[in-house]
Amino acid sequence: MSKHVVQQQEGAVLVLQINRPDKKNALTLDMYQSLIDGLLLAQRSDAIRCVLISGTEGCFTSGNDILDFMAAASQPDKAALPLTFLQTISTFSKPLIAAVAGDAVGIGTSMLLHCDLVYCTKDARFQLPFARLGLVPEGGTSLLLPQQLGHRLAFELLVLGNRVNGIRAAELGLVNTAVDDPFSEAKTAAVQLSNMAPQAVKLSKNMMKSHQQALLQTVLVDEVEQLVERLASAEAKEAFSAFVEKRQPKFN
Ligand code: COA
Repeated sequence: MSKHVVQQQEGAVLVLQINRPDKKNALTLDMYQSLIDGLLLAQRSDAIRCVLISGTEGCFTSGNDILDFMAAASQPDKAALPLTFLQTISTFSKPLIAAVAGDAVGIGTSMLLHCDLVYCTKDARFQLPFARLGLVPEGGTSLLLPQQLGHRLAFELLVLGNRVNGIRAAELGLVNTAVDDPFSEAKTAAVQLSNMAPQAVKLSKNMMKSHQQALLQTVLVDEVEQLVERLASAEAKEAFSAFVEKRQPKFN
């Protein structure tokens, strides 16, 4: 278990807190593994009926650790664990709730598309900067966002990489609602779901997701394959170097 993911069971709710505030909760491979382990534990335990994912006070997660991205350019197998995480979260059969404060970048936003309920602060900041980093969409976003928002709005988020705040995210339907205390809102919903008939809840969720689950799983793999190719591109290398050197990238 990574020390940067805090796992705590509160009644029938398993809380997974992403907790690496000094690096804006950027996700390392160890952290992906801990999130996967937490979800698998919740999947097999009858005592857990709902999972709540949160970050720290001012940040949900700044997405994949950029240094890991740089390493994956020469070691493509490093992309296997993020893919396993996406496969696990997208097929998780119990209710999954997210509480978002502050930044939710890259996979920090795309993982929310696999959650059943999302609550955020009004000033939360959602961003999918894949193309800005010389990359391509991941996490099923190339399928789910155009479906949900239509091509143009999805393009604005996925290709322009524009940032949206919590209020706009709620208007777009990326989250359920923007509130003062998303964790408390998420906890209330989690307790409510935990007190409901577990089989009915699970079957309902799975029914809603079943219609395109096979397609989504294919998309997740295709996206990661293309992303891995992009990681080794000159464009991505320039974007990552620029981030580390705290400068604007220059694409020729
Ligand atoms: N990977 C690795 N380190 C990261 C990181 C990431 N994804 N996001 C932030 N950090 C680190 C910064 O390098 C900095 O480290 P330092 O203090 O050793 O210099 C620290 O976290 C704080 O980040 P900083 O950029 O100073 O915070 P901020 O509040 O000004 O901005 C973000 C926050 C999230 C907007 C900004 O950090 C950011 O854009 N991060 C990159 C997000 C990203 O591109 N993720 C990949 C998506 S595919």
